[in-house]
Amino acid sequence: MRLTDAQLEQFDKDGWIFIPECFSPEEVAVLRDEGERIYAQDREEVWREASGAPRTAFAAHLYNEAFAILGRHPRLIEPLEQVFGEKVYMHQYKVNAKAKFTGDVWQWHQDYGTWHRDDGMPEPRAMNISVFLDEVYPFNGPLMLIPKSHKHGVLDAGHDTSTTSYPLWTLDNDAVEKLVEEGGLVAPTGKPGGVLMFHGNLVHGSAGNITPFPRKIVYLTLNAVSNHIRKPTRKEWIAHRDFTPIEACDDEALLRYARSHSEAAE
Ligand code: SIN
Ligand code: MN
Repeated sequence: MRLTDAQLEQFDKDGWIFIPECFSPEEVAVLRDEGERIYAQDREEVWREASGAPRTAFAAHLYNEAFAILGRHPRLIEPLEQVFGEKVYMHQYKVNAKAKFTGDVWQWHQDYGTWHRDDGMPEPRAMNISVFLDEVYPFNGPLMLIPKSHKHGVLDAGHDTSTTSYPLWTLDNDAVEKLVEEGGLVAPTGKPGGVLMFHGNLVHGSAGNITPFPRKIVYLTLNAVSNHIRKPTRKEWIAHRDFTPIEACDDEALLRYARSHSEAAE
């Protein structure tokens, strides 16, 4: 899937683009079910909130076939190859839960700040491309983005290891206030299957979810192969060391898997 000139322009100007209903309900349903099955497992890659509710499942593409197919999907791989002008590999893979009633916050941060400081990534030539697995509403903890904040490079940040179960390099309130004055604030919402991609330096965060509506989003962090990490400090299943370029699967692969999966269940 290739991005249009208008999409590339918006990405450059604002640092993000959203593609509504990029995956069909049938394709997303199988991922949603598999996501819940993974959260029910007791494994080190599944991190939990203080309440015990799931927060994120790392590296699901390495132990789940549906997420493996998504990790090679041309609708996600090709736009990033287009932006970076080279092949990409998987730096990180997360299925974030934001569970109903208990999903916790993600503080204001830039992704590349963490990839650079913790993983030794040389340049911001990596980014998240995400797929909504549940409907994202204005009220169930949508991702909030500060448009244009990616133009500021890596901003000062403090290492917050206590607010949530996930250590993160976070921005202070004054910095966020200034960036919002300049760029505003957006929170893309939409049906399951929507795709959101955003620059590695775009400042973003999300509030807690006190509603009865879960908000699962899967994030592929794809890095340009020449920009592979140099000094990893985190576990291999958080910051991957396999820099093999991804060869995209065919566009129908997830649909085929979903159909064979639902037949097998009948
Ligand atoms: C992230 O910033 O990595 C995740 C934020 C979210 O899922 O709300
Ligand atoms: Mn992030």
